[in-house]
Amino acid sequence: MKVIEVNNVTMRFNMAKERVDNLKEFFIKKAKGALKFEEFYALKGVSIEVEKGDVFGLVGLNGSGKSTLLKIVAGVLKPTTGTAKVNGTIAPLIELGAGFDMDLTARENIYLNGAVLGLSTKFIDSKFDEIVEFSELRDFLDVPLKNYSSGMVARIAFAIATVTKPDVLIADEILSVGDFLFQKKCEDRMRELMSGGTTVLIVSHSIDQIERLCNKVAWLDHGNLKMCGPVDEVCAAYKNLDPTAAQQQAEHRNR
Ligand SMILES: Nc1ncnc2c1ncn2[C@@H]1O[C@H](COP(=O)(O)OP(=O)(O)OP(=O)(O)O)[C@@H](O)[C@H]1O
Ligand SMILES: [Mg+2]
Repeated sequence: MKVIEVNNVTMRFNMAKERVDNLKEFFIKKAKGALKFEEFYALKGVSIEVEKGDVFGLVGLNGSGKSTLLKIVAGVLKPTTGTAKVNGTIAPLIELGAGFDMDLTARENIYLNGAVLGLSTKFIDSKFDEIVEFSELRDFLDVPLKNYSSGMVARIAFAIATVTKPDVLIADEILSVGDFLFQKKCEDRMRELMSGGTTVLIVSHSIDQIERLCNKVAWLDHGNLKMCGPVDEVCAAYKNLDPTAAQQQAEHRNR
């Protein structure tokens, strides 16, 4: 059964060409029709299919479109053209701190983020201890999140997102800010979810992690799907990427 279907997705962003320093300048330039934008394609006709039970990895250099694709799958961004369909409930771990209020304490944020994910207060009440135990942050529960390190925020986010046994878990690089012990714990939790039928879509710059966890991998290159297939084949090709050739390709495209 197909759980994620991304069909011929293109994503165009308008990038401001010149600097606008303040709102007044923005409106004056806008009224004059002097605001210049450059179109930029972050994804160019990308199609992927993820089957139930797959652990699907996305690899690619910085700026290749991985996070953009995850946001489209999670429904945070609407593609310019093409479609993305997900069959089932999604737990998105996309941007660190998304769905949190940094001025509130971790305790308050657990309820806030739970609500963002559609979980009831009663459900969070019943899972509160499990979330706290998994994140190992009991002593910091009443500290505002702005005083947390990025790894500590990631711990809370991962603990909340995985307490529900979602059909699809989407994780963007979030595990990389955790220390190695927590990463191991997250991987164990992911395996547990996978054995319960959860499908996983992850982005990581750690090829080791991709090779350990994934069965299928897609490689994005400047918004194009360069390769998609079994983990060993795609990772082998990606690891063989010649730095000079990649640089030349980038320069050629930017010309
Ligand atoms: N909201 C936006 N407006 C304009 N351009 C954007 C926007 N979001 C992303 N981009 C551009 O789209 C391209 C792809 O960005 P994306 O964040 O998807 O890359 P990535 O593969 O996740 O990179 P990284 O490995 O650094 O996380 C980049 O060139 C980026 O500048
Ligand atoms: Mg990214």
